[in-house]
Amino acid sequence: MDRFYIQGGRPLQGIVRISGSKNSSLAVMAACLLGRGKTILHNVPDIGDIHTMAEMLHRLGAEVELYPDGTLCIDAEHFCATEAPFDLVRKMRASFYVLGPMLARLGAARVPLPGGCDIGARPVDYHTRGLMALGADISIEHGFVEAFANRLHGASIYLDFPSAGATTHLMTAAATVHGTTLIENAAAEPEVVELARFLNAMGAHIEGAGSRTIVIEGVPALHAVEYRIIPDRIEAGTYAVAAAATGGDVRIQNVIPDHLNPVILKLQEAGVDVIPIAASKDSIGALEVRALRPLHAVDILAMPHPGFPTDMQQPFVSLLSTARGTSVITDHVFESRFKYVAELIRMGADIRAEGRSAVVRGVERLQGAAITATDLRAGAAVVVAALSAEGESIISGVEHIDRGYGNLAAKLQLLGAGIERSGTSHPLSLVAAG
Ligand code: EPZ
Repeated sequence: MDRFYIQGGRPLQGIVRISGSKNSSLAVMAACLLGRGKTILHNVPDIGDIHTMAEMLHRLGAEVELYPDGTLCIDAEHFCATEAPFDLVRKMRASFYVLGPMLARLGAARVPLPGGCDIGARPVDYHTRGLMALGADISIEHGFVEAFANRLHGASIYLDFPSAGATTHLMTAAATVHGTTLIENAAAEPEVVELARFLNAMGAHIEGAGSRTIVIEGVPALHAVEYRIIPDRIEAGTYAVAAAATGGDVRIQNVIPDHLNPVILKLQEAGVDVIPIAASKDSIGALEVRALRPLHAVDILAMPHPGFPTDMQQPFVSLLSTARGTSVITDHVFESRFKYVAELIRMGADIRAEGRSAVVRGVERLQGAAITATDLRAGAAVVVAALSAEGESIISGVEHIDRGYGNLAAKLQLLGAGIERSGTSHPLSLVAAG
């Protein structure tokens, strides 16, 4: 398994270009199963989860071509499989989203339950209850969802919690279902808005995406389209936090600043100079991030959009580990998303995590150490911590980071970071963990 070797303490400086959104791409790719003909997607990120979803669509019978320039062609004309491969659904939760399109197009589906992970139980009851409201017969046996639908129909669906995945999954499932479907207490993340835009480009009739109530008028069929994926707001936020944590001066290009407002405002509250630059006719959107003075503690409440994104609390805790004062971070989205804190404590952080909250008392500096990325965003946290720490760090579990951050080491090297990936010889004295 690969490792990152990081020499901390170097301020990041220069320009970094953000890739396409992982979570928008995954929802859009699942929705391509409804399309007849070849859909062409641009700005798809070159990351592990995209390759997993591309493999999933291929094994379901779609023709999939992924090119190095971020173009992804998907032709689902011959999509015919009613069973999703166990290994892929277990590997990546988002592949569960094929259940809805499978039911809508083929009338039957057998998909493994995705199971929990390091951030919580992550059940799929909102998804299955929504599909049952649309008329599906669903049973869950031996870890599989078995579903049949002779004739789906429009319905009113209420989500107990504004779940991003359940909203995109059910919006997709309902797009070609005869009648009107209402999703109440829907998620409003930018990825939800983009999926509605994509489906409408394919011929769907969806209104209200971005609010808590989405209305879907079913249409008989959807056609292929050409579409550009939005920039990844979480990748952009991660680089902004890394620039702040290293006292750097970075221009982050290919960003939609409006998608990052809570992160921008919290960085500014902590004392970071962040200048959003909206896209214009002759330039793409960007963020200028400068951290030229000591940072101070801020409290964070991770909430559904438009609240502070839960995927950003991990790297933000690394930043606050050396801010002046005490910060309290609470995650109202996932019930156990602070397991990564143990790695920061190994680096000298003073953090007490309990359930949904963590109390961070700022220390002078973190110390480099042998640390482990236990999941994707925990990986972002330990990378940010290692970049700002004094001395050397070795990070194992890089395969988790590869799921959501393309070319991370190369992008950070271009910003002046002392980072290399395993495989090259290293004078590091540390013995890598695990
Ligand atoms: C999506 O996960 C994202 N993943 C997550 O990003 C992100 O953290 C999350 O939304 C919140 O924004 C993708 O888009 C592929 P939820 P999702 O359903 O849809 C509970 C990353 O790092 N819930 O909004 O799985 C759930 O347990 C990933 O890129 C149910 O109880 O998240 C959680 O507590 C991590 N029953 C809460 O809702 C359900 O049926 C919100 O989860 C569904 C969810």
